[in-house]
Amino acid sequence: MHNLVDVKRLTKEEIIKIIELAQGFENETSISTCFGKNLALLFCENSTRTRFSFEMAANKLGVHIYNFDANTSSFSKGESLKDTIENLYSIGVNGIVIRHSESGIVDKTIEEVNCPMAFINAGDGNHAHPTQALLDYYTMKNHLGSVEGKKIAIIGDIRHSRVAHSNVELLTKFGADVWFCAPKYFEDATQDVIFTKKLDDALNNADVAMFLRVQNERLEERIPLFDYIHDYGLTMKKLRELCKKDVLIMHPGPVNRDVEISSEVLNSEYGKTILEQAHNGVFVRMAVLDILLGKIEK
Ligand code: CP
Repeated sequence: MHNLVDVKRLTKEEIIKIIELAQGFENETSISTCFGKNLALLFCENSTRTRFSFEMAANKLGVHIYNFDANTSSFSKGESLKDTIENLYSIGVNGIVIRHSESGIVDKTIEEVNCPMAFINAGDGNHAHPTQALLDYYTMKNHLGSVEGKKIAIIGDIRHSRVAHSNVELLTKFGADVWFCAPKYFEDATQDVIFTKKLDDALNNADVAMFLRVQNERLEERIPLFDYIHDYGLTMKKLRELCKKDVLIMHPGPVNRDVEISSEVLNSEYGKTILEQAHNGVFVRMAVLDILLGKIEK
């Protein structure tokens, strides 16, 4: 493991190693092997959780962070991503975290750039968001012990969701029973999982119900939002009537309040897991940075 582009290319053993190391960082029994390394954060698309938790993770590991601002860098003068990264490497950057709206941009960049540095995908278009899937798995494991045989329903805008794609890759490696639930306009037929249009079927006996954000910025046309909220939005009434009492309600964030999940649910005990996801992201990202940057010669 020299880069982290998607979950598909991680073995089960590599995932277990990341999770165990993350646990060690959370318990303060693991120590950094990448102290003093240099990490660039290149976010060409907005982010709160991923960006801040990578920064927090790097700080805790003693890694120096260099924030790349696309608007004030020479990107705005037309410099290519390849030239930008080769220059950052020459300046002394050892690893780079990339968030971009183009699917496949991280793979393409690794192919084009001739630099022995670590590349980490922090979300590329609708392709992959591997550290999100890892932190989601870490959170599920904390609550369920194992996901094997557990019903995990992923509900909402699956078509545009890199989170759904990375989660299904990871969870099926560990024997979870993954269901997708979406209206026609959010379907993604490319994934080999159980699919239903009915929220009742998805929530019935689910151990985890993960709701996805309606990605307004990626929609080709407006959706019937009122109908969507009626059919797929989680309210306390639906939760009580359709879900197991101990169901885990998850969401990668950011949440459109009262669209995917009602404020009543978010403000209740059921909403707390979503903040745990954000909290756990720091330890998972510490583990990923430690494994990848620890190997790089300065
Ligand atoms: N879950 C997630 O990727 O959130 P941000 O877009 O805020 O990083």
